[in-house]
Amino acid sequence: MLRIRKATSKDIPIVLLFIRQLAEYEREPQAVLATEKDLRRDGFGRDPKFRAVIAKWNNEPVGMAFYFYNYSTWKGRPGIYLEDIIIRREFRGRGIGKALMRYLARIAVARKCYGIRWEVLDWNKPAIDFYKSLGAGFRDHWRAMQIQGEDLRQLARTRLLLLPALCRRESGLDRGLIAHRFDAPQRR
Ligand SMILES: CC(C)(COP(=O)(O)OP(=O)(O)OC[C@H]1O[C@@H](n2cnc3c(N)ncnc32)[C@H](O)[C@@H]1OP(=O)(O)O)[C@@H](O)C(=O)NCCC(=O)NCCS
Repeated sequence: MLRIRKATSKDIPIVLLFIRQLAEYEREPQAVLATEKDLRRDGFGRDPKFRAVIAKWNNEPVGMAFYFYNYSTWKGRPGIYLEDIIIRREFRGRGIGKALMRYLARIAVARKCYGIRWEVLDWNKPAIDFYKSLGAGFRDHWRAMQIQGEDLRQLARTRLLLLPALCRRESGLDRGLIAHRFDAPQRR
């Protein structure tokens, strides 16, 4: 019998196992740095940063979906961001992935979300066909971007170089004052 339920902290090891299996499938087995401790801290405290759903077949974990909420400023509605979905190889093609997506769709509808969004690798045709069979489509013209690691730290450290030009125009204010205003807004 198929049962789908929200993951609890007891499921952390199996959630991490599924995360690793998906990274392996996606040809980046070394990419998973997350530990059980990370998942416990970020998913099962007072302010969870993510949710996970486990599918069990006859009490055996066979699949997982991992998601969190985002927000559409255009629609004025929250949305679900699906980070990971995976079904164990031997259990694929039996409707379990669809059951997990239906579970998320029901949450999205109940919470008045604008929709569910995710990324898929361009070579992962089986998953793309799976998603299309559910009625999903690509977001044309949009490409995913990110900044991380040293580039992120560099950006955080950057001194604001727009200021010299601004200073030249606003002659009454000295450069240091404007820099201060941008760097550390003061409470009135
Ligand atoms: C993609 C994945 C989650 C789909 O789960 P699944 O349990 O195998 O899919 P289901 O059996 O629920 O299929 C649901 C529907 O999708 C269709 N479908 C599934 N796999 C398909 C494929 N390879 N090609 C075409 N259609 C497919 C099924 O025909 C079915 O359609 P139907 O409802 O009209 O019969 C699963 O195959 C998987 O874990 N793949 C490896 C990991 C992965 O790629 N994850 C997604 C990362 S973005």
